[in-house]
Amino acid sequence: MSFIKYGDTVKEGDTAIIFLGHESMFPVKVQDGGKTQTKYGVIRHSTDLIGKSYGSKVTCSKGGWVYVLHPTPELWTLNLPHRTQILYSTDISLITMMLELKPGSIVCESGTGSGSLSHAIIRTIAPTGHLYTVEFHQQRAEKAIEEFREHEVDHLVTVKNQDVCKNGFGVTNVADAVFLDIPSPWEAIGHAKLALKYEGGRICSFSPCIEQVQRTCLALQEHGFTEINTSEILLRVYNVRTVSLQIPDLGRAAEDDSTAAFDRGTQTDQDVPCVANLQQGTVQFKSGVPPREMVGHTGYLTFATKSLF
Ligand SMILES: C[S@@+](CC[C@H](N)C(=O)[O-])C[C@H]1O[C@@H](n2cnc3c(N)ncnc32)[C@H](O)[C@@H]1O
Repeated sequence: MSFIKYGDTVKEGDTAIIFLGHESMFPVKVQDGGKTQTKYGVIRHSTDLIGKSYGSKVTCSKGGWVYVLHPTPELWTLNLPHRTQILYSTDISLITMMLELKPGSIVCESGTGSGSLSHAIIRTIAPTGHLYTVEFHQQRAEKAIEEFREHEVDHLVTVKNQDVCKNGFGVTNVADAVFLDIPSPWEAIGHAKLALKYEGGRICSFSPCIEQVQRTCLALQEHGFTEINTSEILLRVYNVRTVSLQIPDLGRAAEDDSTAAFDRGTQTDQDVPCVANLQQGTVQFKSGVPPREMVGHTGYLTFATKSLF
């Protein structure tokens, strides 16, 4: 699901994602008469985008093609203009689940930053929920308001330009969940408790350093939160590739045995194609290999519950 009010076809004013490949995509603001340059040539918005179905292939002026995609929160996270560090979909998925967010949830967040998490929360709580997001940096707050308006989700979010540690979220006893991504979350725990519903709710705080986590956990305990729990989530992807291995020369008898083994392999497991070439002495098969380097630590996610008991 994309930004909430977007339809199946591209219209003037939409923010669409132009997808050239997994490593190459960018957002465009669709305008009648507008033009966008790509390495495959020009895309003319009036003829190539407006009225086309989201998900369709668009042929550029040099004959190459791109996909025009809905700006889902996941794609927006990968393409948004960075004003701050942002949260990515791996952490966002755990936050969404552990805060038990669903359509209709009322959520408080600080800081808004670049709005990466905000867009994901808004998509989850629509159409009847609301996000109150607090950002003390004036330009960032204004830019977030502008983006929410452009993406037609402004009816689902209120942006407040204030210091959450001093002035809180500006709402009392309404929130089902609170999320903090600020340098000193322990200073905002009292305000978070006040914002959460009287009967309770969930809180999450994101911090890159363990010293921040320790202070936040102590503050949560002091304010009577229970089920205090800190997690770190790491994403390990596997690249599928074809591997070619030499068959060891163990003599004729062993060769016969290995041929039989490969035959059995190809007959019984269609999902793992295994091709033996005894003339060249090689065997080829598909293998899932993790990259040597991966994205490591982003931050610790501390969760807790406000309960009446
Ligand atoms: C790391 S960014 C948040 C990124 C955001 N979670 C995202 O996914 O785009 C932290 C933001 O918190 C804001 N901030 C820091 N302390 C704050 C405070 N006490 N009150 C309100 N905002 C604060 C900063 O200005 C910054 O924009």
